[in-house]
Amino acid sequence: MDVLRVEGLKAFYIVESAGEQRAVKAVNDVSLSVRENEVLGIAGESGCGKSTLLKSLLGNIRPPLRHMGGKVTYLQGEREVDILSLGKEERQKLMWQHISYVPQGSLSVLNPVRRIGDTFRSFVGAHLEIKKEPGRFESLVKRHLEDLGLPVDTLKAYPHQLSGGMRQRVTIALATILKPRLILADEPSTALDVVVQRGVIQLLRDIQTEQRNTIVMVTHDMAIHANISDRVAIMYAGRIIEEAPVEQIFMKPLHPYTQYLIGSLPRIGDKSHRISAPGAPPSLVSLPPGCAFHPRCPQAKPICRQEIPALSLAAKEHRVACFLAAKEDADVDSTEAAGSR
Ligand SMILES: Nc1ncnc2c1ncn2[C@@H]1O[C@H](COP(=O)(O)OP(=O)(O)OP(=O)(O)O)[C@@H](O)[C@H]1O
Ligand SMILES: [Mg+2]
Repeated sequence: MDVLRVEGLKAFYIVESAGEQRAVKAVNDVSLSVRENEVLGIAGESGCGKSTLLKSLLGNIRPPLRHMGGKVTYLQGEREVDILSLGKEERQKLMWQHISYVPQGSLSVLNPVRRIGDTFRSFVGAHLEIKKEPGRFESLVKRHLEDLGLPVDTLKAYPHQLSGGMRQRVTIALATILKPRLILADEPSTALDVVVQRGVIQLLRDIQTEQRNTIVMVTHDMAIHANISDRVAIMYAGRIIEEAPVEQIFMKPLHPYTQYLIGSLPRIGDKSHRISAPGAPPSLVSLPPGCAFHPRCPQAKPICRQEIPALSLAAKEHRVACFLAAKEDADVDSTEAAGSR
C-alpha cells in the first residue's frame, strides 16, 4: 500500500541575477510512490536536488523555492492529504506525529544553550497534552531513549558535551519520539566517521523494525543504501532517472549514470581501475536539450540530444529513463521469456 504519492512534481528556485529572473530547476517533474514500511533510498551526486525534493515532500516550499506544478499526496488510511494545498497550521499538525524530518546538517539543529532534556520537554509538550503530567513526560522520554540504546543521562547534557554521533542519535530520537508513520531523513550520517555512521544507520533500521514506519532516506552514499534501503531512486539534474529494488540497482543498473555510480564503488579483492562519470553535471539553470546526462554519456545517440526519456518500466519494479537501457532490457527480457518457454 502506498503512503505517499508524488506526481509530476516541479519546484524551482527563482533567482535574480543581473536584473534577470532565472529558474534553478532543482525538482523537475518527479513522480514516485512510497510504500508502507519500506525504506526508499534517494541517491545522486551533490546538487542534483535531493534536499529540495525532501523539502517539497514536506510541503516546505518557501521563496526563493516555488512550486511550479505537480502533486504530493499523503495517504492516511482512507484519507488523502494534498500537502501542498495545506495552510501552515494544518501542515504543522501533520508534521512530527505523522511525518517527521531529520534535516541535512542536523548536527547543528539542537539548541546549544539548552539541555537535551529541555529540548525534549518543549518538543513533546508542543505536540502532546502532557505538560501538566510531568511524570508521564519523564517516562515517555526515558523509555524512548532506552529503546534506542541511549543513556538516560544524555538528558542532562548540553549539545556541545556530546560527540557528533551522539548528537545525531539525539536528533533522531527527537524526530521519532512521537512514532511518526513516515520519517524523511536527509543525509543523516554523512558528517560522521564510518564506524559512527554504521551505528546511526543501525539505529534508524531498529526504529523502523520497532515502530514499523516508512523511511525516505536521502544520501549520496551508495554503500549506505546497500545497507538500509529496500528500493533506491537515482536522481540526476532534478529528475529520477532510475528506480528499482536495491539488489537490482546493484546487480543490474540500467542507466549509464547509475552504472557509473555503482562502478565507482570499491570492491574487496578487485584491483581494476574504477571509472567515474566524465565531465560534470549540467547547470540546473540551462539544462541541455534531451536527456540531461547525454553530454556525459558514452552511449548517447541522436535521440538522446532531442527528447527527454520518460521513466518507464524496463523489468519488474525497475524503471529507467534512458532510450538505450529501456529498449535493450526489453529485448533481453523478451529473449529470456522466449527461452524459458
Ligand atoms: N536557496 C537557493 N537558491 C538558489 N538555488 C538553490 C538554493 N538552494 C539550493 N539551490 C540549488 O538547487 C540545486 C539542488 O540543491 P539541493 O540542495 O537540493 O541538492 P542536493 O542533491 O541535496 O545536494 P547535496 O548532496 O550537496 O546535499 C543546486 O543546484 C543548488 O545550488
Ligand atoms: Mg542535500
